[in-house]
Amino acid sequence: MMATILVDQDLCTRCGICSAICPSRIIDPADEHALPIVKDAKAGMCMQCGHCEAFCPSQALLLNVRPDEKVGIPAGAGAISPSELGYYLRKRRSIRHYRADPVPRETIAEVLDIARYAASGGNGQPVEWIVIHDPKKVQRIAGLTIDWMRTLLNTDHPMSGYFPGLIGAWDAGHDVICRGAPHLVFPHIPDAYPIAAIDAIIALTHFDIAAPSFGIGTCWAGFVAGAAAEYTPLQHEIGIPQGRKVAYAMMFGYPQYTTYGIPRRKPLAVEWK
Ligand SMILES: Cc1cc2nc3c(=O)[nH]c(=O)nc-3n(C[C@H](O)[C@H](O)[C@H](O)COP(=O)(O)O)c2cc1C
Repeated sequence: MMATILVDQDLCTRCGICSAICPSRIIDPADEHALPIVKDAKAGMCMQCGHCEAFCPSQALLLNVRPDEKVGIPAGAGAISPSELGYYLRKRRSIRHYRADPVPRETIAEVLDIARYAASGGNGQPVEWIVIHDPKKVQRIAGLTIDWMRTLLNTDHPMSGYFPGLIGAWDAGHDVICRGAPHLVFPHIPDAYPIAAIDAIIALTHFDIAAPSFGIGTCWAGFVAGAAAEYTPLQHEIGIPQGRKVAYAMMFGYPQYTTYGIPRRKPLAVEWK
């Protein structure tokens, strides 16, 4: 899809930043006679990233992609101190005990809406989502994940070492797969689009990071993701759209317990060259 820019001649200061910042270098800078412009011949190279608009100091420029949806940033919004952000991220923990009360769909949609702004290769934005909101369906998915493990016992599957213990615990009545989480979220991506898998993990990481600010706890669901990648009965239960595949899985819900401390991690390993 081609996109062009709309420039407000009263607001544009002809500073040249839109032209300098454009990753595709397709904006001809303003001069004394003309405003910044994307010539038709170059418009097809626009990846609609919106840098021209986002970096315009006088907010004179609108990328002509869903222009009606443009919202401004309130003064001072989003200015988190490194210290606050550091505590916020260090406090994030995998949550494996959940309250039964559901997270309202509108709240989940708000978290997903934030994840829409995650980076994606070439601004492809290939990620779509399936939210399993019904806790009974989450339990069926956990059960199918265990069924998948049973099919792989005594094989050389890379995760098979975990399976006997998990199956034994499940059979003894413990949900070691979804941990009693009321909800699951699956980012899904086109079958034939190699970089989309990375885009999906980035988007799901944004979900993981944004969720605690809504009081929501999360845990990456590696076993569910493993099963969803290859076990047809589970794929049918999830209801993955034609031509797309699940990229990963995350359980979430309101945490039963509160985080008070920060555990130790390996020392920073970095080489400066
Ligand atoms: C890719 C990935 C898959 C994971 N899969 C599971 C899982 O299936 N079940 C689980 O209880 N935790 C899972 N975890 C959570 C890790 O065990 C957890 O991140 C790790 O122990 C560190 O704890 P923290 O997240 O609280 O810092 C997974 C984490 C990642 C990153």
